[in-house]
Amino acid sequence: MGFRCKNLGVTYKTQNGELEALEDVSFSVSDHEFVCLVGPSGCGKSTILKLVAGLLDPTTGTIEFDSKPAGDRPRNAMVFQEHGVFPWMNVLDNVAFGLAIRGVPKAERNAIASRFIDRVGLSHFIDSHPHELSVGMRQRVSIARAFVNDPEILLMDEPFGSLDAMTKLVMTEELMGIWSRQRKQVLYVTHDIEEAIMLGDRVLVMTGRPGRIREEIEIPLARPRDLRDRDKSEIVKIKEHVWGILEEEVRAGLRGQHEPS
Ligand SMILES: Nc1ncnc2c1ncn2[C@@H]1O[C@H](COP(=O)(O)OP(=O)(O)OP(=O)(O)O)[C@@H](O)[C@H]1O
Ligand SMILES: [Mg+2]
Repeated sequence: MGFRCKNLGVTYKTQNGELEALEDVSFSVSDHEFVCLVGPSGCGKSTILKLVAGLLDPTTGTIEFDSKPAGDRPRNAMVFQEHGVFPWMNVLDNVAFGLAIRGVPKAERNAIASRFIDRVGLSHFIDSHPHELSVGMRQRVSIARAFVNDPEILLMDEPFGSLDAMTKLVMTEELMGIWSRQRKQVLYVTHDIEEAIMLGDRVLVMTGRPGRIREEIEIPLARPRDLRDRDKSEIVKIKEHVWGILEEEVRAGLRGQHEPS
C-alpha cells in the first residue's frame, strides 16, 4: 500500500496569527518501502505524519493511497516518541489493545499479541506493567502494539528519541529485524541523521520554516543491514552531505533565528 503526497501545505492558526508549517511538500512511499524523514526540531516532521494518519487535514495539496477509492484511508498505526503505552495495563493487554477494539476474541488476540511480544524479546515481561520496564522496553511494547494490528502503513515519530545512544543502536537493529519479516510501508521520523540512513531505503531531508523537503537520498545499502555499515565510506559521505544541508539551519536556530541568513 504505497502513497503519494502532492504539494502539501499546512498553515496553523495560532494566537499570534498564522504559522506556515509546511510548504509544497511532495514525496511518495512505495510498497514495502522504509522512508525516513530527517530534519531539525520544528521543521514539520510530525505535521507530515499527522497528515498521513488523517489526524490533520492539509491546507493545500492531496494524499493519494494506492488501490483505495478517494477519501478512503488505509489502516495505519503510529508509534509515538513517549507515552505510547497505557500505564494501567500490563504488557499483554497493551499489545492486544487494538485487537480488542476490533472485537477479536480474547484467546485469539492474546495468542497473536504473545507472538509479537516474543518477537520484541519481552516474553518474560508479559504480565509486567509499564512502570516496571525500562524506557527501551516500553518502546518495544509500543512497536509490538503497532505491528500486531497489521497496519497497511506504519508511522513512527522518533520512537527511540528518549533512549541513550547505545540502546538506540541495538533497538534500531531490532526494529529492522521485526520489519524485515513483514516489510510494511514505513514513514519514520527522526532528527538523528545516522539513524535515518541506517534504517531507510530513502531519506527525505527537511528544513523549516515553512517545512520543505530539500533533498531525497537513496541509501545504497543492501539488507539485512549491519551496524558496522555505518562506517562504510559511502555512508560516511552521505552523513556529511546531509549534515551540510542541515548545519546552517541548526546553527541559526541556536542563534534564535528561524531562517538561515
Ligand atoms: N497544533 C499546532 N498549532 C499551531 N502550531 C503548530 C501546531 N503543531 C505544530 N505547530 C508548529 O508547526 C511547526 C512544525 O511542527 P512539528 O511538530 O510538525 O515539527 P517537528 O519537525 O515534528 O519538530 P520536533 O522535531 O521538535 O518534534 C512548528 O513551528 C510548530 O510550532
Ligand atoms: Mg515532532
